[in-house]
Amino acid sequence: MPRTLWWENNQLKMIDQRILPLRYEVISYDDHHAVAAAISDMVVRGAPAIGAAGGFGMALAALHSPATDRAGLLAELEQAKSVLDAARPTAVNLSWATARILNYARRSVLADMAEVRAAVLAEAQRIADEDVEINRRMGAFGAEIVPDQANILTHCNAGSLATVDYGTTLGVVRAAVAAGKRVHVWVDETRPRLQGARLTAWELMQDGIAMTLIADNAAGMLMRLGKVDLVLFGADRVAANGDVANKIGSYKLAVIARENGIPCYSVVPTPTIDLSLAHGDLIPIEERSAREVTHVGAEQIAPDGVPVYNPAFDVTPHHYLTGIITEEGICYPPFAVSLRRAVEMAEKRRGDR
Ligand code: MRU
Repeated sequence: MPRTLWWENNQLKMIDQRILPLRYEVISYDDHHAVAAAISDMVVRGAPAIGAAGGFGMALAALHSPATDRAGLLAELEQAKSVLDAARPTAVNLSWATARILNYARRSVLADMAEVRAAVLAEAQRIADEDVEINRRMGAFGAEIVPDQANILTHCNAGSLATVDYGTTLGVVRAAVAAGKRVHVWVDETRPRLQGARLTAWELMQDGIAMTLIADNAAGMLMRLGKVDLVLFGADRVAANGDVANKIGSYKLAVIARENGIPCYSVVPTPTIDLSLAHGDLIPIEERSAREVTHVGAEQIAPDGVPVYNPAFDVTPHHYLTGIITEEGICYPPFAVSLRRAVEMAEKRRGDR
C-alpha cells in the first residue's frame, strides 16, 4: 500500500478515508483551503496524518503565494496556518506541524522566493518522513510489552491510515508480529465514524494479522472474561501530566481494563504531547455533527430532529495508563517527568536545540 498522503507533481495526494474499505480513491489537492476542508471532513484523519497534511498544506500555500518578498510570504503562511489549524481542534499534531513550517520559514535566511518555497516544501516532506521513522521506533519499543499469544484490544484506527505509514498502535502490533509473536486483535468498531470496522479491520486483514471485529459494547464483557491481555490505543493530544485525549470511548476502555487488571497503554509520537497544557481537562474536545450519530453511512437511524451530543474525543486520566509508548522509549509514571524527558530527547534528535 502507498503512504496515506504524499507529494507528487506539486500536489498533495491523499487516500480518501471516508469511502474505505468499499472504494479506494486518491484525491489531489493544490490549495491549502481545500486541504483544511479535507481535514475537517475526514478525508484524512488520525493525529499524525493530519499533522503531515497540515505541513503539506503550508507548502501549497507557499507554492501558490503571489508574494514577491519574504515579509509577504511569511504573512501568507501565517494566514494559512490559522486556516489549517482551525480544521480540527483536538489533534495537536496539526498546529505543531504548521508552527514548525512557519518557524522554519521565519528562521530561513534565504532571500530568493523560489528557494524559500522549496525550503518550506522540504520541511513538510521531512515531517512526513520523520513520522514513518517515529512509528517504526515506537513499534520496536512497544513490541517489547506485547506478550506472545496476546489478545490485544484496539479502538478507532491508529494504523498506517492514521499516520503517514506503519501506524502507532498498529505499528506496535506489526512490530510484535515481525518479532515472531503470535497476536490476535479485537477491533472495536468505533461508532460513530466506524474507523475500527472500516479502516483497522481493512489494514489488519491486508497484513494477514489475526483479528476479530466487535461492537464497541462487547469490549467490557471480553475483558471481564479474561479474553483481553492488553489494551492499546493512540492519542490526539497528551497533556503534560499524561492525561490522554483520544477517540471517544477510550476512557471507558481504560477504566474497564484497570478494573480487570489488564495493562493499558497509549501509543504516542512526541509531536502529540502538549507540554503547554498541565492536565487533560484543558484539551479542546471537538464536537462533530449530529448527522454522524443519527445516520450510519447514508441511512438515518434516529428520529428526525432528535437532540444529539457528539464529542469526538474523551480524556483518559493518566492514572489509568500503565505506560505511554513513544519513539524515545516507554514512559512510566510519574508522566510529568518521563514525558518531558521524551520530548526533550526527540527535540535533540531533530536538532531543535
Ligand atoms: O477522529 P479521528 O479518526 O481522527 O480520530 C483518530 C484517533 O482517535 C486516533 O486514535 C489518534 O488520532 C491517534 S492516530 C495514530
